[in-house]
Parts: sequence; C-alpha cells; structure tokens
Amino acid sequence: MKERFAKETDQECRARRLFLKQATLMLGAGLAAPAMANARGEVVDISHIPVDGVGTLTFQGQPIVIVHRGKESLASLEQDQGQLADPSSLHSQQPKFADNPWRSRVPEWLVMVNICTHAGCSTRFETQMEQGGGGFFCPCHGSRYDAAGRVLKDQPAPWNMEIPNYEIDVERKQVHLISTQPVKRLY
Ligand code: FES
Repeated sequence: MKERFAKETDQECRARRLFLKQATLMLGAGLAAPAMANARGEVVDISHIPVDGVGTLTFQGQPIVIVHRGKESLASLEQDQGQLADPSSLHSQQPKFADNPWRSRVPEWLVMVNICTHAGCSTRFETQMEQGGGGFFCPCHGSRYDAAGRVLKDQPAPWNMEIPNYEIDVERKQVHLISTQPVKRLY
C-alpha cells in the first residue's frame, strides 16, 4: 500500500529537496526527526528510523511520535484484542484513514500525537511490553497502550491516543504532517 503527497509547487519541491539534502539526519530511538515547515504543514524525513525505532518532533505545539513497527509489533495488533479498552477506536480520535487495527495509513508506520489521554504526559515506546510486541508506557501514572496507541483495559487513561492528519510517501521515506486538530478534544 502506498500513499502519495498532494501535488506540490516547483518552489516547494526545490525547498524540500534542499532541506533534505542539508538536514543532519539523527533519527533513531528517541532522537528528534528533522522536519521542514511549509504552507501545508511539515515534511518529515523518516529514512533513518530503523525497524522498532522511534522519531519524535513537535508539530503545531503537539509532541509527535513516529514509530517504524517491526513484525512482532504488527502481529500483536491483531491478537489479544480483549486486552484493549477500545480495540476498534470507536471512542477515540483519528482520521478516517486510520480506522483500522494499525491506526495508520501504512501498517509499518505509526504517526501519533504522543499525549497520554489521562493527564497529558508524553509516553515512551518500548519494544517489548507484557502483552507482546511493542507498546507505549506513560511514566506519570503507569498507563499502557499497544503499538497503535490503543489503551489497555483498566488503565488510568480512558481513551486511545490521537492520530493526526498526515500523508506518507513510503518510497521517499517522508511523512507530511498536515494537522493535529482533533474533531473534538476528549480530555
Ligand atoms: S498522564 Fe499518563 S497515566 Fe496519567
């Protein structure tokens, strides 16, 4: 499955190429993702995020986490749905394209607003969680989420974490962040 960015102007295209050429690529576990602002959001280079690696950045004042999910994390998303508070994300915030078990446009890549829905702390991605595969842990009060940001049952956090509006170009290894605006803030 492949998603293309919306058509860009020549000027935007040149600016993006120049930025990507000059950027110091420091992606990996917990490192900041290089991003370039343009009129429609930000283009983020994800080429150096390894499998099971994480990139982070701030977009529109919100912490964003980008995870390159490995096979084990992907497999865990379709297993043990009974452990999740809202497995189909019926009560959570995500664009229509993320209405799937991966909560993303492309299964391998998760792009998420990294705000715990309990009291707003940032979570951290761990490659091995008790439920199997990777997932997110909130250090503030211990909420646990799966590798798609879906909260487990009986946690302090009530909802799954939010998915922003974005596009992804898998061949170019770029994410185009468009908006973090939720339909309505749940917490
Ligand atoms: S803020 Fe995350 S568990 Fe309380």
